[in-house]
Amino acid sequence: MIRLGVNIDHIATLRQARRTVEPDPVWAAALAELGGADGITVHLREDRRHIQDRDVKVLRETVHCKLNLEMACSEEIVQFACNIVPEQATLVPEKRQEVTTEGGLDAAGQFSAIQSIVKRLQDKGISVSLFLAPDLPQIEAGIKMKCDAVEIHTGAYANAPFGSEAAETELRRIRSAAEIVNSANVHLHAGHGLTYRNVAPAAAVPKMRELNIGHSIIARALMTGLTDAVKEMKRLINEAANGR
Ligand code: PXP
Repeated sequence: MIRLGVNIDHIATLRQARRTVEPDPVWAAALAELGGADGITVHLREDRRHIQDRDVKVLRETVHCKLNLEMACSEEIVQFACNIVPEQATLVPEKRQEVTTEGGLDAAGQFSAIQSIVKRLQDKGISVSLFLAPDLPQIEAGIKMKCDAVEIHTGAYANAPFGSEAAETELRRIRSAAEIVNSANVHLHAGHGLTYRNVAPAAAVPKMRELNIGHSIIARALMTGLTDAVKEMKRLINEAANGR
């Protein structure tokens, strides 16, 4: 069975747009779990643009499935993770200007710095996943660090038009990277840009264990929930008006 990690960062993005208390990612995590999520994924960015420290602390207490903390290789965040001890940490690159995580980690170029963070987190009992582009040197460097899992970046596949030759080329790169991950007995994860339309080929990659999906699920939830939300507001308004 493939585990689904639901990324709830966008819930926090909406809350932070008003600096208010709703929608609360903690509530969203509970709803995602009710829907069968196998993991709750949050990215505590250095600029705290969406998920806040409080969110991760409360989620640590309330999430019953796996809590997966996406994080940059920064000292402050590493210390935070070592205190919180999520079941899993996914190391990602982070740039202030980016809208979302753009590329994979440079595991080959920053080998020793990343390796020492992998070890610090593992020493705390945290399973460490590395977010890597499906480039063989990066995948090989990640495996050499003795990470527990590799999350293959599916962004280039997702950005290519569905069913196009470009998408097929990206899928072949993902499959080749996956073979190397599998042959090293490292857990195989994937994510970024996966949608209801393009998820099936990614899920069909042999020995895929975990997919992390955020944007598409939260976007769908908004659309499927909006009608009921409007009905509820109308009911409250009409009740008050009738009681005038
Ligand atoms: N995996 C990683 C490592 C990510 O950084 C993200 C985006 O935060 C996702 C998965 C989910 O991507 P999306 O929101 O496009 O589904």
